[in-house]
Amino acid sequence: MGREIAAAIQRWPALVDHPVRPRLVAVADLNPAALEWFRGIDTVTSLVTDYRDLLADPDVDVVYIAVRHDLHEQLYVDTIRAGKSLLAEKPFGIDDAAAARILAASAEHPESFVRVSSEMPFFPGAQWALRYLASGAIGRIIEARSAFLHSSDLDPTKPLNWKRQAVYCGAAGVMNDLGLHAWHLPLRLGWMPRELTATLQNIVTERPGPTGAPEPCDTWDNAVWHGLVDGEGGEFSLTVETKRISPGDKNSWEFEVIGMTGGVRFSTSDPVGVWVFENSEVPGIGREQGWRRIESGSQSVWPTVTGGIFEAGFSDAILQMWAAFLAERAGSLGERFGCATPEEAVATHRMAAAALRSWSEARRVAP
Ligand SMILES: NC(=O)c1ccc[n+]([C@@H]2O[C@H](COP(=O)([O-])OP(=O)(O)OC[C@H]3O[C@@H](n4cnc5c(N)ncnc54)[C@H](O)[C@@H]3O)[C@@H](O)[C@H]2O)c1
Repeated sequence: MGREIAAAIQRWPALVDHPVRPRLVAVADLNPAALEWFRGIDTVTSLVTDYRDLLADPDVDVVYIAVRHDLHEQLYVDTIRAGKSLLAEKPFGIDDAAAARILAASAEHPESFVRVSSEMPFFPGAQWALRYLASGAIGRIIEARSAFLHSSDLDPTKPLNWKRQAVYCGAAGVMNDLGLHAWHLPLRLGWMPRELTATLQNIVTERPGPTGAPEPCDTWDNAVWHGLVDGEGGEFSLTVETKRISPGDKNSWEFEVIGMTGGVRFSTSDPVGVWVFENSEVPGIGREQGWRRIESGSQSVWPTVTGGIFEAGFSDAILQMWAAFLAERAGSLGERFGCATPEEAVATHRMAAAALRSWSEARRVAP
């Protein structure tokens, strides 16, 4: 992820009239081999193996951190206490207690602007879905679904890594990996279920370890939450899914809301397509209901020089997330969609903790 961000910053001039011009100046990684790639970025003047050297560097204002979940708390709290701004990777601590401690450090250091990485809502189609919702065309909401679906673990011979071990990834497993991605929009829209149930699956329980011999793979692979949300027009059903084993899905982030008079669907598996539901007059036939596919093009939260008709992808979403992060830090984001907040990350941990309780006690729980 560090290389992905470094590459996005190189494309900064594509943003139109952005108030900030970031430069990547320093990189820390324990593994010197991982640092080598960054020599190709000509603004980088410091490559260090101890992140504390980076935190002591007066040329560094903003830090992005992508490390194992069990390391989040220490590195994030040290960064916040050093007064640096932080774009933290999700899940923002290995569990809800760690997330609460990071949030507390952030509250003690308001000079450190902190947000959490969740780039998928920066796809233009996701922004269109939000704009459609804001129009009110949907009427009373019946149901909503937000999902992040992979098939990266379909192969049972894929070697064990830190994300497949609860000690490093967290007891929440896939909910730690993908939970904030799937909860970002529901939480931003204020959709917190009163009570929820969850279904958790550990589908592949062993994977080849470093010697090739099978070792326990003790993290949840798939998790689905169901709950009722109090909406403006009445309660509606919310389903949130995070799956590492969803055959057919390479990296699908999906968001869908269906109401009495309208509906909207977007999936990154069709990055330009946005589906809207209409009940409209069809020439020669009359009033009929149906889904219509429209195409979103390139523009998202911050305008770019890219022609409006061109397609957007993952790296564009990363650039847009950074544009939003640095604009908000500079006080220039205005009404535009902002990055996930520490409070939203903490709320996602609450949802994961509730899912674990619901599943182990086989009942509905209040998150
Ligand atoms: N937003 C996204 O789309 C997305 C995608 C993948 C991963 N992630 C998140 O990014 C984080 C890292 O995941 P990853 O897949 O990049 O992991 P990774 O294992 O590929 O990379 C982690 C890097 O951190 C380095 N590291 C470990 N301890 C360190 C320390 N003390 N100081 C400096 N460097 C250290 C490792 O050497 C390694 O290079 C996780 O929180 C993960 O959930 C986010």
